[in-house]
Parts: sequence; structure tokens; C-alpha cells
Amino acid sequence: MFNPVSAYQNIAVIGTGYVGLVTGAGLAEYGNTVICADIDDAKIQNLQIGIIPIYEPGLQELVIKNMEHRRLSFTSNVADAIQTNDVIFIAVGTPMGDDGNADMRAVNSVLQTIAQCIHSPKPENQHILNKRKKIIVIKSTVPVGTGQWARKQLEAMGISPDLFYMVSNPEFLKEGSAVHDFLYPDRIVIGTNHYYPYITMLDIYKAASEKNIFILETSIETAETIKYASNAFLAVKLSYINELANLCDKTGADIAIVAWGMGLDQRISQQFLQPGPGFGGSCFPKDSLALLRIAQKLGTDLHVVEASLIANEKQKRKPVEKLLHLMDNNIAGKTIAVLGLAFKANTDDIRYSPASTTVQMLLENGAFVQAYDPAAIQNMKKLFPNITYSSSAYEALNKADAAIIVTEWAEFSQLDLERVKNLLKTPIIVDTRNMLDPYALKQAGFAFSTMGRGHKNSL
Ligand code: UGA
Repeated sequence: MFNPVSAYQNIAVIGTGYVGLVTGAGLAEYGNTVICADIDDAKIQNLQIGIIPIYEPGLQELVIKNMEHRRLSFTSNVADAIQTNDVIFIAVGTPMGDDGNADMRAVNSVLQTIAQCIHSPKPENQHILNKRKKIIVIKSTVPVGTGQWARKQLEAMGISPDLFYMVSNPEFLKEGSAVHDFLYPDRIVIGTNHYYPYITMLDIYKAASEKNIFILETSIETAETIKYASNAFLAVKLSYINELANLCDKTGADIAIVAWGMGLDQRISQQFLQPGPGFGGSCFPKDSLALLRIAQKLGTDLHVVEASLIANEKQKRKPVEKLLHLMDNNIAGKTIAVLGLAFKANTDDIRYSPASTTVQMLLENGAFVQAYDPAAIQNMKKLFPNITYSSSAYEALNKADAAIIVTEWAEFSQLDLERVKNLLKTPIIVDTRNMLDPYALKQAGFAFSTMGRGHKNSL
């Protein structure tokens, strides 16, 4: 796929979650020699034999291919990976803390390990430290100011600034299309205040720049801000289209055509204009709130970001509100089929999934839930062990009183409506991803609700 001959950097990627694993495999695909390190020994043992802990199309193939080419390996000896490599990518998680700020404990722990390694390198690695400074690249999504904070942390641990450079290199991949997004990004952002780490990063991404992928050099703070600002902007765009879909429910306009018409304006674009049950996942909710917290701390307003978060919380209640509307507020004792549990299609990730709100609200209203998802059932079982899980959409629909589509898995758009109607006790469906043809639903005799597809008064 890429011409790997020209890149030559030796890289350690710390953290083998979504970002770390895709980054490690992607950088190896670019031709670098990469070792991915994680403190989770069991995970590393699986990765060493090509078993991937997450559902991500194309990732296993990329990992195995690069292991076979001896450009990618795995270790649970994080210190060793740091000592023996010049460039250290930090790709550990920065989940949402209780107060909405990013939880930086994992990043801090990696910095401590880096400090220990620089303090006391193994004798055989002394030459590496003498040869050149370590380049510490923050790949995790982190608050603006983290690069400077990390530098100060290392200095406070007794590490001279002469021994390392800090770089911010935010990642823009989406779960479900992570491999493609990493290898063919719209842009690569390199935030650094020095020339040497910049040219090293250019080498690392040489294969990408040969494909004319735009590389943007900025300060560390600017790179960190680009990441948060991009995610929060997309979240704003989604809340905007979701609220407009709710308006279309009242006016009778069709949001699908409205969005298409809007997106034809190149300044707006067609992307991220699909209304739904609210945005979820590990990034938009967390990063929007973290950006808001940063602004609040600095005493400046981000009303638009705040509004998008408020709108999203309301939007996540819409699927069940729509169902209650269709069923005269009476779902106690009824069985509801929930189709889709992941926060979006092509992932098994349920973090901040709107489906959790849907299931929770159904249970609170006294309903029974029969749920199906092609990939996320095992994860959802940890959150809701006592609902019924089905092995197919049709099994979940069997003898249910109504159905809600929550995730836009392609297979739901292929549902045979006659079969669905025969399986359901009553033909009632809420399609929160606008996957089904409203005309066909009407013809088949369903009582149904979409997200703003031209059915006035449908709530
Ligand atoms: C998001 C960004 O899109 C990535 O660029 C970024 O790198 C990533 O966060 C991150 O910071 O790590 P991700 O959370 O994987 O990626 O998923 P998206 O495809 O962006 O979807 C986020 C949410 O928006 C999902 O709940 C999805 O269903 C929803 N969505 C997306 C819609 O409701 N409508 C759309 O048109 C698009």
C-alpha cells in the first residue's frame, strides 16, 4: 500500500487501545519499526499471536502483515520499549473524569516511566541516550497545555530539558474506519517548538507525505487545540442537525432532503449531517466537555459547545419518547426489540452509546428488552446483564411489541418489512437512524417514527 523504504525511525507506542494499536500498525505500514507497549500483559500476549482486542475492520490484517514484515512487535515491558527507542508515542487513554476534565493519570504514569528510564538507562542503552534526545509525542487527546505540563512534570522529576523534546501529534481517526483514516488522513498535525523533532516526524510520516497528505506544522498549543476544536465542532454540527430533525418532525419537512440541500453548499458539506439518537463514543461527549471545562477555567464562554452538549442529552431521550408517543405512553410489561447497541456501526464500542440511554429508559418504564447487535453484545452484557440478548435482528423482533433501531448497522436497512411485521405482535417501529424507507413502512402498515423525515406531528 505504501512505499516503506524511505522511513527509518524506531518508535515505541505506549498504550494499545484504539488509538495506540492503529497508530502502531499504521506507522509500521509507513515503513517505521514500531514496538507497541502496554502494561496489560494478557492483552500483549494475545497481540503477539495476532489476536486483536477490539472490533475494527482491517486492523487485524494490518497488524499481522506488519508483524510478518518484522516492522511491528509487542511488549509488556514498557520501560524497555522506552529505553530502546528514540521516539516515544504516548497513546494511553484520557477518559472523562468525574468533573468533566480529562483524566490524565495514565499519561502521568507513562511520563514517570520515561523519567525513570532517562535517569537510569541500561548500560547497553547508554549510547542511545547520548546519541540524541528522546522525542516524546503525545498522540492521546489531551487538554490544551498538556505538552508544556508534561515538560514541567519531567523537569520536576529531575529530567533536564536537554534530554527530550515534546511533540503534539493529535489523531483524527474514527472507530469503524480507523485503519483507512490513519493511513489516508485529511491532514497530519505536528505541534512542536523545535526543528529536529519536526524533521523526525516528517520522516516518520514520509510515506504519507508522498501521497500528498497535508502536513501542518504548528506550536504544541495550537496542535492540541486543533484536535479539541475539530471534535467539538463536529459535535455542534450533529446537535444542530438533530435539533433540525426534531423541528422537521413538527413542520413536515424531510430532514434527509434538507441535509442534502444544505450539504450541497461546499462550505457546509454532506458529512456529519445524519440525524440520530444523539452522538456517543469515547470522543465527542468527552472532548466537548473537556474543552468547555478548559474555557470555564480560563473565564471565557463556549456557549455553542455547551448548547450542543445540552441538546445531545435531550436527543438521547428521543428514541423512547418517540416510542411512548406511538404506544400511548404505555410500554409497561411490553417487550421492545432494540436493534443496535454500539454507539455507531462497525464497532463493538458502547462507550456513551445512545443505546444505553434507550435501554435504561425502557427498563425504567417497565418494559422488557430483547436486544441485538452484530458486535457489541458482549460489551453491553457488562452494563445490562439482565436483558435478553438475541443472535439476530429477526430473533430480537420475534414476539416483541415494538422495535427501535438505535445503531445504523447496514443489515438493518435490508430488513424484510413483511417478515418484521409478522414477527412483531404489533407493527410499531422507531427508526432513529432513518435507515428504512418511510413510504415502504407506510405501505406495509407500520405505525412508525423517523428522525424528521416528513411526518408531521410524529414527535
Ligand atoms: C470522532 C471523530 O470523528 C474523529 O475524527 C476523532 O479522531 C475521534 O472522534 C477521536 O477523537 O478519537 P468517533 O468517535 O470514532 O470519531 O466516531 P464518529 O464517526 O465521529 O461518530 C461519533 C458519533 O456521532 C456517533 O455516535 C455517531 O453515530 C454520530 N454521528 C456521526 C451521527 O449521529 N451522524 C453523523 O452524520 C455522523
